Amino acid sequence: MTTHEVIFQPEGIRVKIHDKTTVYDAARHAGIDFVSICGGKGTCCKCKIRINPEKFTQPLTESEKKCLTPEEIMNGIRLACQIKIENNLIVHVPQSSRTGKQRLQVEGIKTPVDLDPMIHKYTIHLSKPTLEDPRSDLDRLLDELEKKHNLTNIKMRYDLLKDLGPLLRNSKWNITVTIWNKNQIIAIESGDTTHRSYGFSFDIGTTKLAAYLLNMITGEVVAVDSAMNPQIQYGEDIISRINYICSDNAENSTVLQKPLIKKVNDLIDGLCEKTGIAFEEIYEMTAVGNTAMHHIFLNLNPSHLALAPYTPVIRRGINLTPKDLGIKINPLGNIYCLPVIAGYNGSDNVAVILATELYEKDEICMAMDIGTNTEVVLGNKEKILVCSCASGPAFEGASIKHGMRATSGAIERIQIDPETFMSDYKTIDEITPRGICGSGIVDVIAEMFKVGIIDHTGKMNKTITSDLLRKSTDGYEFILARANETAIGKDITITQKDVRQLTLAKAAMHTGAVLLMEELGVTESDIDKVFIAGAFGNYIDVANARFIGMYPEIELSKVKTVGNAAGTGARMVLLSKTMRTLAETISQKIKYVELAAKDNFQSVYLNSTYLPYADLTRYPAASKLLKELGRFPEKLPHKF
Ligand code: FES
Repeated sequence: MTTHEVIFQPEGIRVKIHDKTTVYDAARHAGIDFVSICGGKGTCCKCKIRINPEKFTQPLTESEKKCLTPEEIMNGIRLACQIKIENNLIVHVPQSSRTGKQRLQVEGIKTPVDLDPMIHKYTIHLSKPTLEDPRSDLDRLLDELEKKHNLTNIKMRYDLLKDLGPLLRNSKWNITVTIWNKNQIIAIESGDTTHRSYGFSFDIGTTKLAAYLLNMITGEVVAVDSAMNPQIQYGEDIISRINYICSDNAENSTVLQKPLIKKVNDLIDGLCEKTGIAFEEIYEMTAVGNTAMHHIFLNLNPSHLALAPYTPVIRRGINLTPKDLGIKINPLGNIYCLPVIAGYNGSDNVAVILATELYEKDEICMAMDIGTNTEVVLGNKEKILVCSCASGPAFEGASIKHGMRATSGAIERIQIDPETFMSDYKTIDEITPRGICGSGIVDVIAEMFKVGIIDHTGKMNKTITSDLLRKSTDGYEFILARANETAIGKDITITQKDVRQLTLAKAAMHTGAVLLMEELGVTESDIDKVFIAGAFGNYIDVANARFIGMYPEIELSKVKTVGNAAGTGARMVLLSKTMRTLAETISQKIKYVELAAKDNFQSVYLNSTYLPYADLTRYPAASKLLKELGRFPEKLPHKF
């Protein structure tokens, strides 16, 4: 088969690639961290690269015609996923098409938990066999466990039995036995190792993985790390990944599981090396994730999650051996994946409920785990309702003209001067801006609304006389940073289309919250606490988020950001058997509300696309501020 050499610049990475491979696949092969939201389908317009147009004359595809401006086409910009390699090629990958190192949030609320792990270690001294006492090695061990620790019906795997004889003799009959769930021996070590017992908890998100290494004797977090979910190369959202698994391109069902397991093992390796802990000393691992990530991690076919009625293969929690998944902890250890709630409501949400202790509150509480899919929880110890909102990746920077992830150079905070409309912004790592990330996007919408660049409906105010608001090929757009002050050599703008994407995204979350409140028969004033969790929950301005209607108008003093609460819940379950049982009970008790099945779903959703909501009588604080600013809408929609 014919092969060609592709050189990726500016790194100069060379790869040999089969004829007709796309540049997108070649880049993946070369380990180039490409932005892809659609998984290579030509719909997200993010995978822009530059090729010498004189040397590469392949006709533009329909996707390229839609995604690229005439100026870009003239400059040799193409979409990596659309063009096929037919000759040796030099490809320039601009900064704006790279994912970069994301600010990965691992910190979460610290919810205390009574230490009660599934793993226990027992130090034992056995008497040597004699002619008078010729019991077998195994009987001798089991008898001692019963006599000294009152443990009966203990099982032991063949893998340990094989080496038991020499181990007992080499350790002079002084050993430490590690038992899982008080019934299964999973390790026998020479001498006294009762002071060393570790476990891992993982939060497997669509975008990122968070890993926590815990000391299971003290309950302390020893070290944490995080990484991008490597499946991103197959699409940024769940549906793109499920579609990829089901497509003809996927060689087999493990195509997305393999890179995920590898990344999990890399994180384990890294943290073990950093802390001097051997992987054999990691006896248990817990994992949470949305239902699609849960299924892919377990190599369960996720195809039905994308089709009504969105049935998961399994709901209850599951215990596996590290060998089942290829995870690099003690091979006889245990991996526990928490139960999921529904096809679009995963074990990460169960973990959020544990972490916020919502399940035992007298007062009504709301939790919102904001992400590509936003989960909303409402209730208390009596009743818990959950729903899932397709908020999409707009707040992750996707489908926004200059949107980007929370990496270096992303605008994360912004204020707009009401007189000059000039933006005063702050970027991550305080370098020249490359784009705008989620927390910046929340600020931008709120600020544009406050200063009158957009109105109650999200429409740009074309009567404004400022050269910062202009007409472009994408319709009207507002300039946040001029080309001469950006790292991309272009103005960073927010377009009318972007505002629309963001109002639709926030409307999805708001709709979920409103419909759950209706279902439970409560109003804003009945809610005692709102927990904002998720990737950028810790970084957003909660007042601005409320002002644009990401969540209903609940007193700000009742709103608390809880960071990666799903990670907290996963750790709680690692450290406490009680929490594990509770996770199973809660997941069965929760009522999943299918929003699309509600009669008024469409009307609430449409009303939620307004800033902050069509019916401003439900937003007294926002109304007051709008009146003070002289921005209260003259005309409100007639029907809510
Ligand atoms: Fe190429 Fe989305 S358009 S990856």
